[in-house]
Amino acid sequence: MTRRDLALKFFQFLAASPLLRADKKYSELGDPLLKPVNVFDFAKLAKAKLDPLAWDYMDEGSDDEASLRDNRSRFDNIIIRPQFLMHDVSKIDLSTTLFGKKLDHPIFICPTGGKNCFFKNGEEETAYGAGMSNTMMFTRGGIDKIAASGKGPKVWWQFTSAAELRTKNQMTNFGEKLQDQGCSGISVTVDIYHVSHRERSIHNGLSRGWCEANGVPRDAAGNLKYSPNDVLWTAGDFPVARPFSTPTWDTLKQLRDSTDLPVIVKGVMTSNDTERAVKYGMSGVVVSNHGARQLDQVGGTIEALPECVQAAGGKIPVLIDGGFRRGTDIFKALALGASAVGIGKPYLWGMATFGRAGVARVIDLLRAELGADMGMAGVAKLSQIDSSFVRIRK
Ligand SMILES: Cc1cc2nc3c(=O)[nH]c(=O)nc-3n(C[C@H](O)[C@H](O)[C@H](O)COP(=O)(O)O)c2cc1C
Repeated sequence: MTRRDLALKFFQFLAASPLLRADKKYSELGDPLLKPVNVFDFAKLAKAKLDPLAWDYMDEGSDDEASLRDNRSRFDNIIIRPQFLMHDVSKIDLSTTLFGKKLDHPIFICPTGGKNCFFKNGEEETAYGAGMSNTMMFTRGGIDKIAASGKGPKVWWQFTSAAELRTKNQMTNFGEKLQDQGCSGISVTVDIYHVSHRERSIHNGLSRGWCEANGVPRDAAGNLKYSPNDVLWTAGDFPVARPFSTPTWDTLKQLRDSTDLPVIVKGVMTSNDTERAVKYGMSGVVVSNHGARQLDQVGGTIEALPECVQAAGGKIPVLIDGGFRRGTDIFKALALGASAVGIGKPYLWGMATFGRAGVARVIDLLRAELGADMGMAGVAKLSQIDSSFVRIRK
């Protein structure tokens, strides 16, 4: 080979190298969606974009926000223990099977109310984002047509507080309708039978209805526009009596018996409730403190996970949400026995900034982090992660 051939080969090599393909990278970096390098970057963008009242409504916890802080800080109590060479980590597989459904990855979208304060038709927008990232979604409802069109989530669960399940007939109709719509299961949130003190919103004079309708109404001068129907979030009015009785485990058992769909309980924080969920025939539990928006001082969800996993005893899957922002957070929960991990605020940050693409990008970032973290910890599949991969700091 002549010197000229060698030089030619060298230039061909350079042209193919990622270094010289950097121009493609630069043009991608021009895409604002790709600028945030982690989910916290999306939070900053969302805060800058949203009405301050909408931001507070999304971001706040109840009372002293102690559980809100715990949901994040308690991850630091858990150390990852990587273990090398047991598995070939050249290919990482994040797929899993949950309640008989095959999922691409173990991250799911939690139900959230008031999405219209963050994006127009927020529930639908989220459904499209779930479809783009092939993510299981827990919905407040109304996405069945999007799911049926193939553009929404393949696996979706219906949220309920059981308010619409007061009679046997209502329950049967509820289950049948959902089954006809292709819903995968029913998730009953059990921590919202009383209104919590979310004091940022009380101080702000937020009317909850705004976030279910068209967002925070302001006049041309930027002042809040109240209408006679607005109900403000107030302090000092504890409701001693509710118009309807609240559900009990028997109600959930009736729901369970009235439908073929799996029923799971969201809002469990103790081994006691997990044991009851098993006893009353529930298909699973979600360890959750409602994103720290209901009862305060309950601790972080990751702290509650081990006792719930132990109480479930492998009989039902234990899911979890609350404060998950990193692949390492998800890895820790999986190592402590969670079957899947939910996110609330992170996908809302994505949606507030870029709509459905933002929802999908947030999920993709978390997926990529989890995949890389698994590889670095020495595992190639979710089934290879067990409690030997974590240690709880004393
Ligand atoms: C704005 C907002 C509204 C929410 N609304 C509901 C709801 O209506 N029902 C419910 O079960 N959980 C609701 N949640 C709680 C989430 O389902 C989930 O448990 C929580 O957001 C997870 O914590 P994270 O936000 O730290 O990821 C809401 C959360 C947020 C942030």
